[in-house]
Amino acid sequence: AIDTGVARNTIEDWEQYKLELEERIGIDQRLISRIITRARRNPKRVVFAESDDVNILKAAQLSLDEGVAIPILLGKIDVINQLIEEHELDGLRDCKMIDPYLEPEKVEEFAEAFFEKRQRKGVTLKMARKSMMRSRNHFGCMMVEKGEADAFISGLSNDYPKTILPALQIIGVEPGVNRVGGMYIISNSKGNFFFADTTVNLNPTAEELVDIIGLTARVVRFFDTEPRMAMLSYSNFGSARGEVPEKAAKAVKLAKEKWPDLVIDGDIQANAALNKDFLKENYPFSELAENPANTLIFPDLDSGNIAYKLLMELGGAEAIGPVLMGMNKSVHVLQVGSGVRDIFNMVAIAVVDAQLNEKRENSAK
Ligand code: ACO
Repeated sequence: AIDTGVARNTIEDWEQYKLELEERIGIDQRLISRIITRARRNPKRVVFAESDDVNILKAAQLSLDEGVAIPILLGKIDVINQLIEEHELDGLRDCKMIDPYLEPEKVEEFAEAFFEKRQRKGVTLKMARKSMMRSRNHFGCMMVEKGEADAFISGLSNDYPKTILPALQIIGVEPGVNRVGGMYIISNSKGNFFFADTTVNLNPTAEELVDIIGLTARVVRFFDTEPRMAMLSYSNFGSARGEVPEKAAKAVKLAKEKWPDLVIDGDIQANAALNKDFLKENYPFSELAENPANTLIFPDLDSGNIAYKLLMELGGAEAIGPVLMGMNKSVHVLQVGSGVRDIFNMVAIAVVDAQLNEKRENSAK
């Protein structure tokens, strides 16, 4: 996807950008525009761990302008202020800015909390105090964990594993969830499609695929869509042998036992899952024959990650994500090189995720 937001630096540009967003709504932005509306109803405090990046600041400014989020900017304060000045991001001047290196008392408090959590996982108090809690990813996650912020966004400038690990260690998974996973929404002229897992689990077992299926079904519904899921492989219903088709078929069987009403089928090839005529002619018994899949579950990270990236580069698709599913609080890890619009979309998703977490926590009280 070409991000037209990167070069924007004046208020007029922002206005133009918003117009472009509106124009796109008819094509593929309806889904995200509903999320933006939901976010606006109850904006949340979002920590941006990489506030020394101009795209992050522009997305923070847009979130503020649109009433979607209350940004908290982490980083070197003079660098942040200089970027705000250079790019005329005036709305950010009054935002809370935090440089963990200038917050020894907070670092000490967070280090003690981290040590408490991780002392039997190889962490010493000294390590936590001297290095970990001064890192913005650790510090930002701890702010969310401690309730000093509602959502965390990072990952633009670091490898995915480096960003997600502190989140897994500090915030962890939601009660009842075994594994987190990542999902992309892929939009093109044929509609919106949900792809998972595209970012986290390298080679999930059938049982772990069931976890991914459950999380994905819930998140697809979060986007006001009823999931029709295909568990992909290189085979159609046992047409070819091998570890992957067997794993896919087993995952479908287990998922059906767990959620009898869930529409899911496989092992199935990607073209069959998306082609009603082909399915009707060859596999009329399939649950997807009447109405093809809108949610594709990949058997491993290679296939999921490669598929969505090919669609973005060659297929002219828009991609929203990665939406991190199953964390105990709202944490979202950006793809390296995300543009302003991609980041803004993720902020809106993170805010709605934080609203839902709040609701979940309140109903558990
Ligand atoms: N769900 C929940 N918790 C998990 C998961 C998971 N999927 N994976 C690891 N954890 C937990 C572990 O239980 C462990 O908890 P503990 O320390 O409290 O016991 C902790 O996280 C660390 O576990 P490790 O075993 O040390 O971590 P691992 O080596 O498994 O790394 C990671 C986890 C970083 C997510 C790894 O699986 C990974 O690198 N995944 C691929 C990420 C990636 O490169 N994605 C593709 C690019 S992203 C993109 O294109 C946008």
